[in-house]
Amino acid sequence: MSVSSAHSTGNSTASSLSEAGASALTDQRIVVLDFGSQYAQLIARRVREQNVYCQILRHDLAAERIAELAPKGIILSGGPSSVYEDGAPRCDPELFKLGIPVLGICYGLQVACEAFGGKVTNTSRREYGHAMCEIVQSGTLFDDLPGEIDVWMSHGDQISAISEQFEPLARTSTCPFAAIRHKELPVYGMQFHPEVTHTPQGGKVLENFVRRICGCEPNWQLSDFADATVRQIRQLVGDRRVICGLSGGVDSSVVAALLYKAIGPQLTCILIDNGLLRKNEQTLVIDEFTNHFKTDLHVVDAEDRFLASLAGIVEPQEKRRRIGHDFIECFKKEAESIENAHFLAQGTLYPDVIESGADPDGPAATIKLHHNVGGLPEELGFELIEPLRDLFKDEVRRLGLELGLPEKLVWRHPFPGPGLAVRCLGEVTRDKLIVLRAADAIVIEEIEAAGLYRETSQTFAVLLPVQSVGVMGDARTYDNAIAVRSVNTDDFMTADWSRLPYELLARISTRIINEVQGVNRVCYDISSKPPATIEWE
Ligand code: XMP
Repeated sequence: MSVSSAHSTGNSTASSLSEAGASALTDQRIVVLDFGSQYAQLIARRVREQNVYCQILRHDLAAERIAELAPKGIILSGGPSSVYEDGAPRCDPELFKLGIPVLGICYGLQVACEAFGGKVTNTSRREYGHAMCEIVQSGTLFDDLPGEIDVWMSHGDQISAISEQFEPLARTSTCPFAAIRHKELPVYGMQFHPEVTHTPQGGKVLENFVRRICGCEPNWQLSDFADATVRQIRQLVGDRRVICGLSGGVDSSVVAALLYKAIGPQLTCILIDNGLLRKNEQTLVIDEFTNHFKTDLHVVDAEDRFLASLAGIVEPQEKRRRIGHDFIECFKKEAESIENAHFLAQGTLYPDVIESGADPDGPAATIKLHHNVGGLPEELGFELIEPLRDLFKDEVRRLGLELGLPEKLVWRHPFPGPGLAVRCLGEVTRDKLIVLRAADAIVIEEIEAAGLYRETSQTFAVLLPVQSVGVMGDARTYDNAIAVRSVNTDDFMTADWSRLPYELLARISTRIINEVQGVNRVCYDISSKPPATIEWE
């Protein structure tokens, strides 16, 4: 957990309490040095799946600092660079002398190999995809694995020569050093990616590294995390009050549930109903946070205000700007009415911390346009509490279930802060929102009925600013078109459109056209991201 003042530090980790956060629950941690890999977070999640705490750090963090953190193992991630290029990222070579086991993956392997005098060259053709990997020396890294395993490769460079201090452990038909180890030091590496699901035995390989080579005990448990965080929150908050904004999304719900467990009546939740929520959204939140968790919930009905601000606005960024502004004003006004409010809780997650560059030991900020409305202004003057700052989304979901949140809430698809406004293309009006909300509810109902809600990552309806001609009964219609969007994605940075069954699409289309007045045409969006985005605005 982290606490910082919204006055001065904004996003930064600051207080001694953050030191007492997740990592302090265990003396067994693995660190991943990030060389810019798209998979660095995935590696960390895979390690945590072994119930071992894992943290992502800058690739060039000084060996001295790493030694202070005292990890049981170091993983060097992959990365897009070539080690032989000028300015290619490298780690501090001193870290190989710390006596802490090191595992290099892909680029990380090449960095390690080169540090000991090995040679990395460009292969004539980039190897991308499946390969069969023959284990030539079993033991430790490849314990309990067959002689040949399926692996996933993604590299243009590969090791052409290893120094005498190394020995090969595995090879593929095109890659003679698919895995290697140092003969004396605990330094290992592999060209393939054990963290991706396309390497089916990858979990076992990582487990061998984490458990057998690094000797980690699997003692990082979410239940311990919840208990410790509850204790920390109680100690920190004392008799003061915490405010938590609820959006209906999983992150803010889990934050609220955790705070409720810690301080019960000292928690006040605020739900701003901006009139841009989905059907039944308000009811779901109210039901959960007044009937189940009996929190002090303030529901601010601000539909009129938001719709008035949006009148006549068609430009998406301007819509966002106005919604963000109104949200903050409403929140501020409501917060003023709450006595003794000292803290503001936010559902910041570990990927936000990593990607924003907020952790001084973490990787540099990655370029990611984060359009969250959640960032409340500094002048609000609260201290921030961010109890989920050390967790990945899947851990937040598990924590939510452990805290007693219903599956329906825990597995909700993400919903953008500006809500239906960015799905109602062109000007947002009350009438258009009624049409969109009804169509959207049908999409969700049908996807749930087909058992595909959990399989898809985000599914919704978009109301297009076009009318087209149709015929209903004997009459000609000139009505709206709805686009249905459903995507599958791991990280929402890239996404593919969901291959929904035709029968399901047919049902969705028929129901929308029959049941939603004002719609005579339904289209299915078959664009991936990139080049499209998930939202239409
Ligand atoms: P895009 O459309 O950029 O969306 O591919 C990626 C993810 O971000 C969500 N999204 C937003 N979330 N405020 C938010 O809180 C926003 O303004 C916003 N715009 C997009 C989107 O729903 C998807 O999950």
